[in-house]
Amino acid sequence: MQEQFTNEQLVQVAKEFGTPLYVYHAEKIKEQYQKLTSTFSDQDVTFFYASKALTNINILRYIKEIGCNVDCSSINEVRLALHAGFEPMRILYTSNGVDFAEIEEAATAGVHINIDSLSNLEKFGKKYGHTYPVGIRIRPNIMAGGNLKISTGHEGSKFGIPVDQLDKIEEVVQSTNLYIRTLHIHTGSDIKDPDVFVKGIEVLFELIPHFPELEIIDLGGGFKVPYKSDEEETDIKLLAKKIKKTFDDHPIAGNKKFKVWFEPGKFLVSEAGYLVANVTVLKDNGTTVFAAVNSGLNHLIRPMMYDAYHRIENISNPDGNKKVYTVTGNICETDTFGTDRELNEIREGDLLVFYNAGAYGFEMASNYNSRFRPAEVLIKNNKASIIRKRDDIEDLLRNQIEQH
Ligand code: LLP
Repeated sequence: MQEQFTNEQLVQVAKEFGTPLYVYHAEKIKEQYQKLTSTFSDQDVTFFYASKALTNINILRYIKEIGCNVDCSSINEVRLALHAGFEPMRILYTSNGVDFAEIEEAATAGVHINIDSLSNLEKFGKKYGHTYPVGIRIRPNIMAGGNLKISTGHEGSKFGIPVDQLDKIEEVVQSTNLYIRTLHIHTGSDIKDPDVFVKGIEVLFELIPHFPELEIIDLGGGFKVPYKSDEEETDIKLLAKKIKKTFDDHPIAGNKKFKVWFEPGKFLVSEAGYLVANVTVLKDNGTTVFAAVNSGLNHLIRPMMYDAYHRIENISNPDGNKKVYTVTGNICETDTFGTDRELNEIREGDLLVFYNAGAYGFEMASNYNSRFRPAEVLIKNNKASIIRKRDDIEDLLRNQIEQH
């Protein structure tokens, strides 16, 4: 199975579709999914792709085609998942801070729902009572994740209902006769250490006796993927082993046979995506040689937002002498993609590739500086199809109401 595009393939698609361009590798998504399913094949585990990472409808359809379910963080993601053809039972809506009307719409659609506040839990109980099984997102007070901006399970985090408010949860459940089928946690993104998941399970185990109808332990997403060449992804085999042991060793869970759910986003699509951009200007400012590309934080915000590292290569001159460059975008504020990177000699007009651009790349793109968002191309069975056209001036004016 082909895992990565060659430089020539990327140069070819860039020629055909122009730059800046997001390119996705379908089989890489499948490979990542199968890595998960084959490793957990002896456990009752289901995966829901966290679609917030990349929601292009063709990606959602591909996710469906390979047999994966889908996790949504807004009612619009639920609508997109339904549009992509997912049956409601394959859709999970993990809401956060949302208007109750969104939860009602999700319930009308018949999808799985996790609720993350006492307020919405109470509204849900008053409306649905025992008729609609539901999940509760618990804040387990665990600090995890690659950096604070993507940590969600610690004390002080806005996510979930703090585990120490169990008495309040019980009050709501009892007074409204709720049917609690799932307990959910998601402690962060970029989690390398499998023990973080074990710790989370242990927190939830304490709650089991309080929810007799519990069937599902939903451990969220957050598996790490390698961004740098010396990094490794979460050891899924070790994770599977530890999870099995944690459940087997527990006096209640060992017998009760809970279902386990995960919601991976990055793990499925990060490495499948590439952002290809064109070097527009080379500028030697005396101390630094800047290579500016026809892209920027408007297309890939992760370096500026999280100090995230994205590997960069010059695919137009792979044999050129190595030189040091700071790669920037063309946005009218600092938008550095990479500082002091050793790259094959860059000439204006060369194509640079930013790796790991599949997750939270296009999805977090904007029209800042009134620039167009890139086109997206999906390569499947070696065939490249355009799955989103590049914005044009009409897109910038759409929805604006010109008062004369
Ligand atoms: N489940 C829930 C409830 C989540 O909030 C998230 C991500 C996921 C699953 C998927 O997490 P993943 O497997 O992708 O790590 N924009 C940031 C990441 C934000 C993650 C938000 N929630 C980034 O680019 O690093």
